[in-house]
Amino acid sequence: MTTSIHRYAVMGNPIAHSKSPLIHSLFAQQTAQNLRYEPLLVSTEAGEFAKAISTFQAENGQGLNVTVPFKQIAWSLMDQLTPRAQQAGSVNTIWFDQQGKWVGDNTDGIGLVRDLTENEKLELAGKHLLILGAGGAVRGILGPLLNENLAKCTIANRTLSKAQELAALFDSHPISACAYSDLVGQQFDLIINGTSASLQGTLPPLPTGLLAIGGGCYDLMYSAQPTPFMQWAILQNATWTLDGLGMLVEQAAEAFWLWRSCRPNTQAVILQVRQSLTKSSPQSLVSNLPLEIGGPSGPEPTRYGDWERKGRCIDF
Ligand code: ATR
Repeated sequence: MTTSIHRYAVMGNPIAHSKSPLIHSLFAQQTAQNLRYEPLLVSTEAGEFAKAISTFQAENGQGLNVTVPFKQIAWSLMDQLTPRAQQAGSVNTIWFDQQGKWVGDNTDGIGLVRDLTENEKLELAGKHLLILGAGGAVRGILGPLLNENLAKCTIANRTLSKAQELAALFDSHPISACAYSDLVGQQFDLIINGTSASLQGTLPPLPTGLLAIGGGCYDLMYSAQPTPFMQWAILQNATWTLDGLGMLVEQAAEAFWLWRSCRPNTQAVILQVRQSLTKSSPQSLVSNLPLEIGGPSGPEPTRYGDWERKGRCIDF
């Protein structure tokens, strides 16, 4: 009798430094699943991504993760989208149904919510949330966050119209949009940084006094050391600060569950991935921040997906 190993992969460009093969191999080891998970570099030429999915499927591939720059293209190529992928406007997890149809999901938002509520035991219901940024990453997390019965969610963005468009997409929830200058005098229990500003070594222009007593800050980026946004939060007396490494592992765990009907223990894997970060720190990108929030020897933030654009370090 022959048994073939189930094949999974992450597609992106670039892809060499993706943490997903490490994370999924740790999940497979832990749950004694016989599978192979590989990074696949896909050309950004028109049509190549769709061709790569077809080839992978024809070669008995079972499931795919998708990262920069293909998450939005993946969304448009699927035969079927889960409701949360539909809402997110991007796909990070694909599988093939019994008829061979392509099904796309987005596990980013649920990954973030699990990191906050299960790993960190933070209560979201009734809280005032501020989200910085209104790009693809923020759209990807909004639905699952809003399902947590927040009292209020404010999206602040450099380009106000983008925040307004995003708020309009989710207008059945208590959500509003504003510019950074409108934040003066407001207070929030939780601030999530979803901008790509840290990748340029900068922060949005945030007024002081934004955090309510007991409030905390979460950066979708992660790094071996506190990100610039986390350092800002510490200066603002945040009760807690977190980076996005937990989200990275949790979104992978959700994909693993979708493919394998098996839930890995993420705590141990978060620790192992954290250790791997300290071994491979890319050069700092925060040298143009003031010394107290970065400085020449400061941290090197990574947001899953985004770092790839800078050709530095890949996370998914
Ligand atoms: P992603 O898919 O990673 O979200 P994106 O869709 O390009 O990337 O969105 C990037 C987000 O970071 C946007 O909200 C962007 O603000 P604008 O909509 O005004 O462009 C925000 N951003 C990027 N650089 C920034 C900076 N230096 N200061 C403030 N916001 C910034």
